[in-house]
Amino acid sequence: MAKTQSVRASLDKQPHEVASMFDGVARRYDLTNTVISAGQDRYWRWMTRRAIAPRPGEQILDLAAGTGVSTVELGKSGAWCVAADFSQGMLAAGRFRKVPMVAGDAMALPFADNSFDAVTISFGLRNVADIDLAMREMLRVTKPGGRLVICEFSTPVIPVFKTIYMEYLMKALPRVARAVSSNPDAYVYLAESIRAWPNQRQLGRRVADAGWAGVKWRNLTGGVVALHRGYKLGS
Ligand SMILES: C[S@@+](CC[C@H](N)C(=O)[O-])C[C@H]1O[C@@H](n2cnc3c(N)ncnc32)[C@H](O)[C@@H]1O
Repeated sequence: MAKTQSVRASLDKQPHEVASMFDGVARRYDLTNTVISAGQDRYWRWMTRRAIAPRPGEQILDLAAGTGVSTVELGKSGAWCVAADFSQGMLAAGRFRKVPMVAGDAMALPFADNSFDAVTISFGLRNVADIDLAMREMLRVTKPGGRLVICEFSTPVIPVFKTIYMEYLMKALPRVARAVSSNPDAYVYLAESIRAWPNQRQLGRRVADAGWAGVKWRNLTGGVVALHRGYKLGS
């Protein structure tokens, strides 16, 4: 039996700690996601694709793409989609997928200015040490008129549901992860990082402050997840 790794990043999200934590999660990442989200992950990915609305012939960057599971969903549109991530372990675990993959840091993207029709990041931004810098980098590599979609955990909007969800996050989720994940400690970090993450309005303001225009968001699964959208001015 393969040995279980125990690496957990702290909330200051030092890049080397975050990358090693995801290296440790990689082997069973896709399965663990589906189990801990009770299958909702597929719905969230489908809604993310709809929000981006990629078209054949377009070039899409899927940032912090991990094993490429989010990139495959985007590729169903017929657009050319590239996965980028700084965890070599996550990229390696997704190598069987037929998507182009690039190693790179969200805070210093290895792409030229104005390269992509759309840039998206699913469940990745929360793990980046400087999210304002990452959102400015995403803006830099997006073509004028191009789109941004951020899919990220957020704050449930109905108070009683929020209470139950927070209980699940802090108590049940680490136990479930212990049964499924190749790095269960990472799921304690997951719970803590979701609790510390800005709510929908606060994140929307930061996306706009990074230079994105027309920022809007919508809730999925009662606000467990939010999709933030914006576009780059110019044509
Ligand atoms: C929770 S996974 C999300 C993977 C995939 N997008 C999905 O939807 O399942 C978060 C990913 O963000 C990556 N990540 C975190 N900080 C990053 C950074 N600064 N640059 C590039 N990738 C980063 C991690 O390596 C990890 O693969």
